[in-house]
Amino acid sequence: MAGRVITIDGPAGSGKSTMARLLADALGFVHFDSGALYRAIALYYLRAGIEDPEEWAARIGEVPLRVETRDGRTSVMLGDEVVDGEIRTAAVSNLVSPVSAATPVRRRVNAEAARFASRFDLVADGRDMGTVVFPDAQLKFYLDATPEERARRRLKDELARGRKTDFETVLAEQRARDENDRNKPWGALRVPEGAVVVDTTDMSVREVLELLLAHARERFEADGEGEGER
Ligand code: DC
Repeated sequence: MAGRVITIDGPAGSGKSTMARLLADALGFVHFDSGALYRAIALYYLRAGIEDPEEWAARIGEVPLRVETRDGRTSVMLGDEVVDGEIRTAAVSNLVSPVSAATPVRRRVNAEAARFASRFDLVADGRDMGTVVFPDAQLKFYLDATPEERARRRLKDELARGRKTDFETVLAEQRARDENDRNKPWGALRVPEGAVVVDTTDMSVREVLELLLAHARERFEADGEGEGER
């Protein structure tokens, strides 16, 4: 049965993407990673050398963004090119936050989210999934952690990807993104009404997953609903 939605919002490094993926796998839902769509759009503008925020808004229609599911996960494409790896570079990470502030860009991503939700049961993660995009979601989470812990996690990821960086650089970049994400004219990061708030600072991945799963089971079993289909 398509149409069930769980949202997970939170700042960068709060663990929401990891949790969204694991939760989707455990429940048989599709993981919709809205940040990946913003990243693909930013990658297009980066490659095209489009730097002016007015152009980002005006030219969103020409971005050949495509989103598909592979093994229950979102895979993003620009035309026929799968860009799942390239959207994770530092250059894209730094450009994506301002790009995602443009309202026409947000509309484009939200339309894709709605299209996915009409086809699949979703675990959707991002900054505004529970507030703007799926305000009627059956279950909403908001994950958070201290800035230092979030930066430590990101540093680990960045080093694993082979980027030469350090804790102070990652913390400063994160501060700039947090600031941007919280101050967008539309779709700014905030705790959705009715969300279960989880501070993951001192929790392991397994502990967080078990907590989220317990809420999901309670919510969906209470409805007498079985597991989702892909
Ligand atoms: O979660 P992420 O780091 O992949 O997100 C990339 C950027 O996209 C991030 O700077 C904030 C933005 N974003 C957003 O504005 N709204 C969302 N729903 C998801 C991401």
